[in-house]
Amino acid sequence: MTAEIISTGAYVPEKTVTNDDLAKVMDTNDEWIRTRTGIGERHIADEEFPAEEKGFLLALGACRKAIENAEARPEGEKASFREKNDIDLVIVATSTPDFSFPATACRLQEALGLERAGAFDMSLACTGFIAALSVADAYIRSGVYKNILVVGVDVLSRLIDWSDRGTAVLFGDGAGAAILSASSGESGIIKTVLHSAGSGDKALYSKAMYFNEADKACMAMDGKRVYDFAVRKTPEVIREAAEAGKCEEIKYYILHQANIRIIEAVSKRLKEPMDKFPHNIERYGNTSGASIPIMLDELVREGKISRGDMLCFAGFGAGLAYGAVLLKY
Ligand code: COA
Repeated sequence: MTAEIISTGAYVPEKTVTNDDLAKVMDTNDEWIRTRTGIGERHIADEEFPAEEKGFLLALGACRKAIENAEARPEGEKASFREKNDIDLVIVATSTPDFSFPATACRLQEALGLERAGAFDMSLACTGFIAALSVADAYIRSGVYKNILVVGVDVLSRLIDWSDRGTAVLFGDGAGAAILSASSGESGIIKTVLHSAGSGDKALYSKAMYFNEADKACMAMDGKRVYDFAVRKTPEVIREAAEAGKCEEIKYYILHQANIRIIEAVSKRLKEPMDKFPHNIERYGNTSGASIPIMLDELVREGKISRGDMLCFAGFGAGLAYGAVLLKY
C-alpha cells in the first residue's frame, strides 16, 4: 500500500506587494532584492482578512480546491477516495497559526464539513509540509487511514520586523493542500527523509506569537548561516531520498522556495539542469510551509506533471530542519 497524491489546491491573498512598494517604506530596491533572492513580489494577507482568520481562510481556500479537484476525477480513477467524507484526517503544517488552540486543522474539519475526520496541526516552519507528508505516508502505509488532507499554510507577514530589511523583503503569505490516498497501484510516496541540524534557535527563529503583544517579538535570521546550511544540506537529503543513481529518473525537484540562488546552487551541486527545478519565488517570495504545495499545484494546473512522473520535494529552514520526499506522481 502506498500514499498517492490524488489532488492539489492552492490559495494566496489577492493583495500583492512589489519590490518597488517595499522600496517606498524601507531602504531597499528592486535590483538588490531580485539579484540576491529572485523575488519580484509577494502576496500579503492584509485587511481583506479578519486578523484572527488569516491562516484559516488561506488554508480553507486551498483545501476547497484540493477537494473539488479530487471529487472531479473521472469515475475510473476513484478508488479509496470518492467524496470529501472519505477524508479520515486533516494535518496542517503551520508555524503561524491564528490561535494557539484550537488547531487550524480542527477549524478546517468543521468548515469543510468533514464528518468523520480527525485533525491536528504540526509545526516545522519551512520544512513543515515535508514533515506532514511523511506522517501522512506512515499512517496510510500502515493501514491506519486511507485518505488524508495535508495542508501547508503560513502567514509570515505576521512575524516580519518591517525595520529589518534583511528579512522583511523575503517572505509572503499563502496556502497549499494535497489529498493523499491509499493506492495499490504504481503511484505513491517511495521514501521520506527528515533531519535536524541543530542551532536553529540562533540562526532563524521567532518567539511564540503570544509574546508578540508585549515585546513585538519578530523573526530574526542570520541569512548567511541559513544560506550555507540550505546549500549544503539540501543536496545531501535529496541524494538520501533518491538513493544513488536515481536522480536522472526525477522529472522535477520541487524545492522550498526561499531564494533562487539556493535553488541554483542545489541544481549545480546535484549536477542536474535548472529546468528540473521549477520556481515561482518571483511571484510569491518565501511562503514557508506553503511553498512546496503551491509550486506542486501550479505544475499540476499547467499540465506539466503526468501520472507516473518521478518527483522529489525538498524543504529546509528553521530548526535547522531539512527533509525530502521521493514519489511517483
Ligand atoms: N536591500 C538592500 N540592501 C540590503 C537588504 C535589502 N533588502 N538587505 C540587506 N542589505 C545589505 C546589507 O545591509 C549589506 O550591506 P553592507 O555590506 O553595507 O553591510 C549588504 O546588503 C549585503 O548583505 P548580505 O547579508 O551580505 O547579503 P547576502 O548576499 O548574504 O544576501 C540574503 C542576504 C538574506 C538574501 C541571503 O543571505 C539569504 O537568502 N539567506 C538565506 C535566507 C533564507 O532563505 N531564509 C529562509 C530559509 S527557510
